[in-house]
Amino acid sequence: MPTLERLHNHLEALTLAEADAVLEAHLERAAQEDRAYADFLDDLLEVEVAARRTRRIRTRLNMAHLPYHKTLAQFDFAFQPSIEERQVRELQTLRFLHDAHNVIFLGPPGVGKTHLAVALAIEAVEAGFSAYFVTAHDLVSDLGQAARENRLDRRLRIYLAPKMLIIDEMGYLPLDDVGATIFFQLVSARYERGSILLTSNKSYGDWGAVFGDPIIATAILDRLLHHSTTVNIRGESYRLKDPRKAGLLSAPERKDEG
Ligand SMILES: Nc1ncnc2c1ncn2[C@@H]1O[C@H](COP(=O)(O)OP(=O)(O)OP(=O)(O)O)[C@@H](O)[C@H]1O
Ligand SMILES: [Mg+2]
Repeated sequence: MPTLERLHNHLEALTLAEADAVLEAHLERAAQEDRAYADFLDDLLEVEVAARRTRRIRTRLNMAHLPYHKTLAQFDFAFQPSIEERQVRELQTLRFLHDAHNVIFLGPPGVGKTHLAVALAIEAVEAGFSAYFVTAHDLVSDLGQAARENRLDRRLRIYLAPKMLIIDEMGYLPLDDVGATIFFQLVSARYERGSILLTSNKSYGDWGAVFGDPIIATAILDRLLHHSTTVNIRGESYRLKDPRKAGLLSAPERKDEG
């Protein structure tokens, strides 16, 4: 069998599909440029390694269930001066993730809470961590159903396994007793084990009302905030930065979320 064919067979047997696909091009280039054997092999394997890395990131990104793909580079810090950029850059180092600390984004609608949480999830995924995004409402209804069907422990694993769990929109909808209990269980189980990124339109003082019970709210906050960073955002909604849209909102009965 000719050597080239054998090479293709070997690469296929080793499931090095990307290297297999570029073999001829790399052989040709190596001959033309009179490259050292080691450099040729290095280049060829690099193609395979890079392709696998991209594939792994794509898979983990799909598994993260992000609502949209927005990065830190796409975030305009100048628009939201109440955010200390240095604080976000520190979060970007992902040290909090190594330490299993939490991050809480507080602020009114449209100020970038979800955007920043999503952007940090993308950073985490690109650094090799797993992330999972869920709204507080979906989380509690999913786990509530699991509890009714006596399979809460098994279902909880979905929310315990990822290194970073993003819980979005805490506080827009109040939780009932069962919801509050489930939330408490989850926060306790992740405590000092895996990071929670949480976004909320409610300040901590209002959490008693969200959980319908100040005692459980305190117990949750105690665990959530023990090792945590709070990013408190005050300012205008980015969704309404177009002054004509902002004008629409000044009529109190209109609420334009577009
Ligand atoms: N400073 C910013 N720079 C660039 N885009 C921004 C900025 N702030 C918000 N956005 C964009 O505006 C939209 C709304 O932001 P985001 O989803 O983060 O709002 P939010 O704070 O989570 O609001 P809500 O509480 O209503 O969910 C998104 O498309 C987001 O990418
Ligand atoms: Mg949001």
